[in-house]
Amino acid sequence: MATDTYVGSVDQGTTGTRFMVFDHGGNVVSSAYEKHEQIYPEPGWVEHDPTEIWENTKSVINTALDEGGIEPDQLEAIGVTNQRETTLLWDAASGDPIANAIVWQDRRTTDRIETLEDEGKAEMVQEKTGLEPDAYFSATKAEWLLDNTDPIKLQRARPQDVRERAEEGDLMFGTMDTWVIYNLTGNHITDVSNASRTMLFDIHEMDWDDELLEEFSVPAATLPEVRPSSDDETYGSTDADGFLGAEVPVAGALGDQQAALFGQTCFDSGDAKNTYGTGSFMLMNTGNEAVASDHGLLTTVGFQRSGEPVQYALEGAIFITGAAIEWLEDMTLIDDAMESEAVARSVDSTDGVYFVPAFTGLGAPHWDQRARGTIVGMTRGTRPAHIVRATLEAIAYQTKDVAEAMVEDSGIDLADLRVDGGAVKNNFLCQLQADIVNTNIVRPVVDETTALGSAYAAGLAVGYWDTVDELRSNWQVDREFEPDEDADYSEEFDRWHDAVDRSMGWAQSTGD
Ligand code: G3P
Repeated sequence: MATDTYVGSVDQGTTGTRFMVFDHGGNVVSSAYEKHEQIYPEPGWVEHDPTEIWENTKSVINTALDEGGIEPDQLEAIGVTNQRETTLLWDAASGDPIANAIVWQDRRTTDRIETLEDEGKAEMVQEKTGLEPDAYFSATKAEWLLDNTDPIKLQRARPQDVRERAEEGDLMFGTMDTWVIYNLTGNHITDVSNASRTMLFDIHEMDWDDELLEEFSVPAATLPEVRPSSDDETYGSTDADGFLGAEVPVAGALGDQQAALFGQTCFDSGDAKNTYGTGSFMLMNTGNEAVASDHGLLTTVGFQRSGEPVQYALEGAIFITGAAIEWLEDMTLIDDAMESEAVARSVDSTDGVYFVPAFTGLGAPHWDQRARGTIVGMTRGTRPAHIVRATLEAIAYQTKDVAEAMVEDSGIDLADLRVDGGAVKNNFLCQLQADIVNTNIVRPVVDETTALGSAYAAGLAVGYWDTVDELRSNWQVDREFEPDEDADYSEEFDRWHDAVDRSMGWAQSTGD
């Protein structure tokens, strides 16, 4: 392999879009990042402008290549990874979105999910999709867009009803991977891991499910083709006459959490990772078996390589962790995320303060769409440092909740937990996490494992890497945090659960 070729990865995340270029050793050669606007039209609603996201995607690709002195034709392949579940529809003829994308955090379809539960359909949905029915997933977001988008906004010559146009195949449905792949290649494609988060996909049959499509009134004509996460046939190529000026195959796609599993080289059953981004998502590879959860976890598609069986995962989806640190910044309790470490260390404990950052309800293992952010135990002596420490402890307690569920469901002990994402730069948090979960926390050298995972998927497909063993040998430990034998958080963990109970059921309407 020539040393001057690379693989690129578009990481289209909740807060921004990154393009990273990796060499054969899995090292970052160049990187660029741009944030996009978070749109909150009403309380509990979160939207993104897909056009802004695509403009940013082109911009970060060009910037990373320029700054790295890399020619586009030095890219052997591009992989895509993305915030999952975020849903949009666009006009098949013009490529224009019909409305803003509804973000995974959006709660506007809470009532719809409750109706589903009242009608006794939750079990059917869970059995087929492996998902706990929740407004988090794409199905009710797509249904909402089809029912509520004003046809006038479509700006087309045919002023028909939006749903009618969808049924005729004039509109395309997609999550952010699909949107980026469509704009890069012109093809309407998603990968198995992203399809598994729509709540429209049967993870056992590995196909869109007619009963679910009917339940959520999503026309089959809008759906993308579902392909392996690492696809030897490739999803298509960029256009030599397009913004990149080169024909580069797009050959891999994974939802960001599955990409991190791949980037952490968790290729074997029992391998687990936790990513600390906006939220935290702990995934354990369960091999070719879709393990059903009895403890509030999701069963999801991990990844699939061309010609190989699907690998499944158990997932503990925690909605708010890194976003709680951002909130501390918004509240001016800290100047920036890194300062949270020093501020938390400045006190010995939270002095009895517990913070449940259920800003968008609670995910695994509690699943309460109406939970809301709650701080309990404050006294006149409570200081900002106690709240900051309580925030970091909340991240660690939430992770312990899902780690315990994972051990119960899988029957596998968590010897090591590989971690990644922005917040793992915080050594205090990593040590706290080791102490609270009572397991080794292992931080790799490349902590941008999400982007790395999709680069690996694309690079394997085009033969840039030949085997997963090559990828395993790229993975290196930066630091391992062992549990402190004297640390005992059992009482605090009980109190944490009391605080969680107080946060639950708070919102009376979707907009609260
Ligand atoms: O399921 C939502 C998840 O994919 C979002 O990840 O890293 O953008 O917060 P992140």
